[in-house]
Amino acid sequence: MKVVATYNIKGGVGKTATAVNLAYEATRAGNRVLLWDLDPQCAATFFFRIKPTVKGGAKRLIESNGSLAAHIRATDHLGLDLVPADFSMRNLDLHLDTRKRPTRRITTLLEPLADQYDIAILDCPPGITLTSESVFAACDALLVPTVPTTLSMRTLDQLISFLADADRPLVLPFVSMIDRRKKLQRDFLAEIFERVPAHLPTVIASTSVIERMGIERAPVAVFAPRSQSALAYRELWADVARRLWA
Ligand SMILES: Nc1ncnc2c1ncn2[C@@H]1O[C@H](COP(=O)(O)OP(=O)(O)O)[C@@H](O)[C@H]1O
Ligand SMILES: [Mg+2]
Repeated sequence: MKVVATYNIKGGVGKTATAVNLAYEATRAGNRVLLWDLDPQCAATFFFRIKPTVKGGAKRLIESNGSLAAHIRATDHLGLDLVPADFSMRNLDLHLDTRKRPTRRITTLLEPLADQYDIAILDCPPGITLTSESVFAACDALLVPTVPTTLSMRTLDQLISFLADADRPLVLPFVSMIDRRKKLQRDFLAEIFERVPAHLPTVIASTSVIERMGIERAPVAVFAPRSQSALAYRELWADVARRLWA
């Protein structure tokens, strides 16, 4: 099982939109997919129409001796399962901190599922916390949606230098929510492509179709299969798969 996370120190950059659409595309490509919602905002849980409840709360989730198995829910899509979040996930760091090896915890919880799924996608909260470090240790790759702005580029630099000495995970930034009508954003796009060699080639534009996910509560390809955005997420999945199984 490969493990990836949609991750950024910043919030509101498209982490959840990416996790939801890539989980769907990965399933469509024939993979058995587990999406784990780690964010107390529960947005991925909401998009898949699952009740935001963690049995026993984040404390029990993190302290369980077995795997995540008891927390897994089936979605409307065959082959795509979800571990929902609820508001108790805001305390994930506190519960992790009581463990002996907190940064190994997410790895340990995922290990028993290795034969059951081809890929696990972790939808992360923003920030760079103990939870993030536990995610870094568990992941083969971090998918980092990067909005083409100065501050977004700065946080990407922070992340890359924080992980510079680690051999894992692969950091895979890609441009998210770009508005090509704006010259400054087009300039940043060129800069990211030039300065960040590991970036993925597919660019996710800012579109009203993606915004509509909140109304439709489904991946874009379900309600707008022929849209440019549905196509873009399919290409983004192909980029990710090439890097994961290279
Ligand atoms: N490419 C996009 N175009 C337009 N709106 C988007 C796009 N990606 C995300 N959004 C919207 O922007 C908001 C933040 O996106 P989200 O995926 O929840 O970000 P994060 O998980 O990083 O906080 C949401 O309302 C979402 O619907
Ligand atoms: Mg999110």
